[in-house]
Amino acid sequence: SISNGPPVTLPSKDLDGVAEYINSGRAKRIVVLTGAGISTAAGIPDFRSPGTGLYDNLSRLDLPYAEAVFDISYFREHPEPFYILARELYPGKFHPTVSHAFIALLAQKNLLDTLFTQNIDCLERRAGVPGDKVVEAHGSFATQRCIECKKEFDGDKMVEHVERGDVPRCEDKECKGLVKPDIVFFGEMLPKHFDRETYRLGMADLVLIIGTSLSVYPFAALPGMVQEGKPRVLFNLQRVGGIGAKSDDVLALGDCDAQVRKFADALGWRDELEKLWKSV
Ligand code: APR
Repeated sequence: SISNGPPVTLPSKDLDGVAEYINSGRAKRIVVLTGAGISTAAGIPDFRSPGTGLYDNLSRLDLPYAEAVFDISYFREHPEPFYILARELYPGKFHPTVSHAFIALLAQKNLLDTLFTQNIDCLERRAGVPGDKVVEAHGSFATQRCIECKKEFDGDKMVEHVERGDVPRCEDKECKGLVKPDIVFFGEMLPKHFDRETYRLGMADLVLIIGTSLSVYPFAALPGMVQEGKPRVLFNLQRVGGIGAKSDDVLALGDCDAQVRKFADALGWRDELEKLWKSV
């Protein structure tokens, strides 16, 4: 892999040390990895938090098992549960969190190399992260298509169907296949865009991991691609994915918004962050 400089020795293995590393100008390429934990403060449940996570709250959909709602083979037979859930998850009703705003601030400061997100809520873009910096590893609700003939389906018509809670079908009379948003279901391939961009983890000077259980592959393999000697910082309620095992890992455990604010204080960016967040 491309060697981008000597291993980093953080002044201290905490957010102050990482802030000093960034303010020294040595962290030019920052890659951010996010999951559902970054959006819980926006009112969108994550998937696996005990009790509050989506997978603990789908009994009304009468599924054989929770993840079936996002399984392509189950969807082909029973599309209704997904469309009931889509109505609750559909983007537009939610507001970016201060953690989303922090990523937009990194981009404004020309420090964000790439954001890889697992989320489908489009809140990163709403927060102002430039589209060409975002890799939506699990797709998003931005577009939709027929799962048989792959013909794209009109967005406005999709919103009508979702609001009515009914299942849209392909308008090609010969096809009449089921229509599904371009979010990656279990059993589907990730977007080619994801595969094309993962090399960037090997070039990153610093990787921030925010609000994910790192339990779904291949996304969960990304932290393992970071070059030896480059710090990985985990902003999460609890330790996950073996982060913390490497000598230059930093754990910022707790609520991600609180930890991000602490980080912004250490960086001297707190006022800018709050101002940016209020403006989105
Ligand atoms: N602050 C910090 N961490 C949080 C917060 C918060 N406010 N809220 C939740 N978390 C943490 C949880 O403790 C958990 O470790 O975020 C993580 C969320 O993990 P998951 O619910 O598994 O979500 P995610 O990692 O994004 O799931 C990955 O699974 O179902 C698939 O495709 C779906 O993209 C999703 C993938």
